[in-house]
Amino acid sequence: MRVLVTGGAGYIGSHTLLELMAQGHEVCVVDNYCNASPEVLVRIRSLSNGTLVDHIGDVRDSVKLDDIMDGFQPEAVIHFAGLKAVGESQERPLHYYDINVSGTLCLLRAMDRIGCRKIVFSSSATVYGVPKYLPYDEAHPTNPTSVYGRSKLMVEQILTDWTAAQDDTTAVLLRYFNPVGAHASGQIGEDPSDIPNNLMPYIAQVAIGKRDALTVFGDDYDTADGTGLRDYIHVVDLARAHVAALGYADKATGARAFNVGTGQSYSVLDMVAAFERTSGKTIPTKVAARRDGDIAAMQADATRAKHELKWVTEHNLDDMTSSTWVWQSGNPNGYKS
Ligand code: NAD
Ligand code: UD1
Repeated sequence: MRVLVTGGAGYIGSHTLLELMAQGHEVCVVDNYCNASPEVLVRIRSLSNGTLVDHIGDVRDSVKLDDIMDGFQPEAVIHFAGLKAVGESQERPLHYYDINVSGTLCLLRAMDRIGCRKIVFSSSATVYGVPKYLPYDEAHPTNPTSVYGRSKLMVEQILTDWTAAQDDTTAVLLRYFNPVGAHASGQIGEDPSDIPNNLMPYIAQVAIGKRDALTVFGDDYDTADGTGLRDYIHVVDLARAHVAALGYADKATGARAFNVGTGQSYSVLDMVAAFERTSGKTIPTKVAARRDGDIAAMQADATRAKHELKWVTEHNLDDMTSSTWVWQSGNPNGYKS
């Protein structure tokens, strides 16, 4: 299939490009590099002989998008491009709605113009909000607690309405849990531009000596060791879910949401212990107050993805932490290394 990948130079997008090309898909990337390095595509080309074209562009630039669509004529779009920092989304709501929501509207108009009927969208488990029960299934009520989460839910609704109005269209809404880890080559991984907000890149930067200690946000949750529980998923498993989603979109129409997680959860201290075990490094920790907006636990029921996308995870916790360390130790300054 010819697949246009917005945000394809980012963390999840880059891993997905490799999986798509490994399955023979032709890919075209559009990315404005606001949170990515052009070095990513250099490395991807060295790891794959697949067909990859790329354009520097913003998904809100309709003229540019029309031009790219005319040239590439995609049969499907995977839409990663967007902003993802929860705290920043509260400070800059209009910016987040502009990029995440208006950006998607521009993309859909450009798709309609050339008759491209299939989209796979990067949504998030954050659309569920405070759990009413766990594990979350896709029927769990949605009630996001941040601007970021609401922007994702708005896009899900827009895509649902888009498919309702045209019966030959498909929107696969992938609700990601916590992606971690890196490509087995050690060449592609997560490269936060600032102090990491998320647990795994923070642990990796402590291990490499860039940060002194991990601050554990709260050890008084109602969990076995008192720290927060999350459903961490290896980014390569997540990338493969997109390939599976394309296969599903080829046969199905309408909008459908899928949880993309492992169905298992680990605590902050479990993650630290696994990282120490697979890297041989010691991760000093200090306990601080709970982080604003955090919940105690999150876990996916990924049964629907297993049955309908024919997708299951293949990597375990040690694969997640060891691949993170191979990437971080081989690239202490990320793509600038
Ligand atoms: P990322 O920041 O690494 O990738 C996003 C990419 O989109 C970057 O390459 C960035 O340069 C590009 N981009 C941003 N705005 C753009 C614009 N206006 N036009 C063109 N390109 C633009 O993030 P990621 O972790 O790879 O996440 C990808 C998607 O998955 C995002 O939509 C994110 O919200 C969603 N998601 C991520 C997580 C996570 O934990 N990483 C969890 C749930 C959902
Ligand atoms: C965060 C976002 C969420 C987003 C997800 C994507 C918030 C409130 N939520 O979720 O919307 O979808 O990232 O990956 O920002 N932790 C520490 N110390 C740290 C960092 C994290 O103890 O320095 C703990 C957190 O309290 C949490 C766990 O580690 O218990 C995971 O945190 P993180 O990686 O930030 O992910 P989420 O909180 O699940």
